Amino acid sequence: PIPVILDCDPGHDDAFNILLAAAHPGVELLGITTVAGNQTVEKTTRNARRVCTAAGIRGVPIAAGMAEPLRGRGITAPDIHGASGLDGPAFGAPAVPLDGRDAVTFLHDTLRAHPAPVTLVPTGPLTNIAAFLLAHPDLAASRVGRIVLMGGSTGRGNRTPAAEFNILADPEAADVVFRSGLHITMIGLNVSHRALATPEVVARVRDLGTPLAHVCAELLTWFAGTYREVYGFRAPPLHDPLTVAHLVAPDLVTLVHAPVAVELTGTHTRGATVVDLDGVTGARPNAYVGVDVDVDAYWDLIVDAVRTLGPP
Ligand code: BDR
Ligand code: CA
Repeated sequence: PIPVILDCDPGHDDAFNILLAAAHPGVELLGITTVAGNQTVEKTTRNARRVCTAAGIRGVPIAAGMAEPLRGRGITAPDIHGASGLDGPAFGAPAVPLDGRDAVTFLHDTLRAHPAPVTLVPTGPLTNIAAFLLAHPDLAASRVGRIVLMGGSTGRGNRTPAAEFNILADPEAADVVFRSGLHITMIGLNVSHRALATPEVVARVRDLGTPLAHVCAELLTWFAGTYREVYGFRAPPLHDPLTVAHLVAPDLVTLVHAPVAVELTGTHTRGATVVDLDGVTGARPNAYVGVDVDVDAYWDLIVDAVRTLGPP
């Protein structure tokens, strides 16, 4: 199995990525770090613990990370994920503990101790990852296997016409990551907007009939409501689990190697990922960029994950 650390801001779609990573035999889940994004870091951390509790995920350390971006003030997304960051189902009190270390210390300790390079899977703003790369560049160069992230877009944004939420929330951090020289895979909105959790998908999940399946169906139904109201989508895109899905099923997402730059100063375009798909800049490719997805295979993985997990 691939050793993985999830770095996330749950978040409805982040929650499903935790489930997929915990359930799939192709992943060795070494830990979960949380970051401010969809909600404050206090809330995203509580949500990670809630998800692990509901899914019976035990023994996976959860470490809280950065509360604000590298520069300036953060943004949250209550219009999409609710006041809790994970609105919809009724969750009980989290029964899994919080690791005492901050996310950067946890990343440092875990990468140093693990015998093989570790894959980092960020699905929120890139603050923790950038802070780690800046604090421990040598360790990162030798012990990070890959970075497989959800963020950006080859085309339009969602938080501004140009910028996707995770990149807009901390453009300086994204810039550090994309200029790090590490092996980076970016799966953005141009792909995730094809992965819509239709009523048929929600029914497949609900029909599994377990308490966890009920929670998951509630999450998807709530997410469908905000995506319908805010964006007029017929069904909500389940962005984040495309990362782990790609790791365990490499053919599921089609990638191209391309130069990606993060816009830091644009008057109307700060936070945009400028992807040179046509090679017109002559810049060296620095990321593998998702351009297509096998949607049916994706939903099979998600449904299987929910089927596999459950409270002890
Ligand atoms: C990204 O933003 C968040 O709201 C989602 O969890 C996802 O990571 C999509 O733009
Ligand atoms: Ca997210």
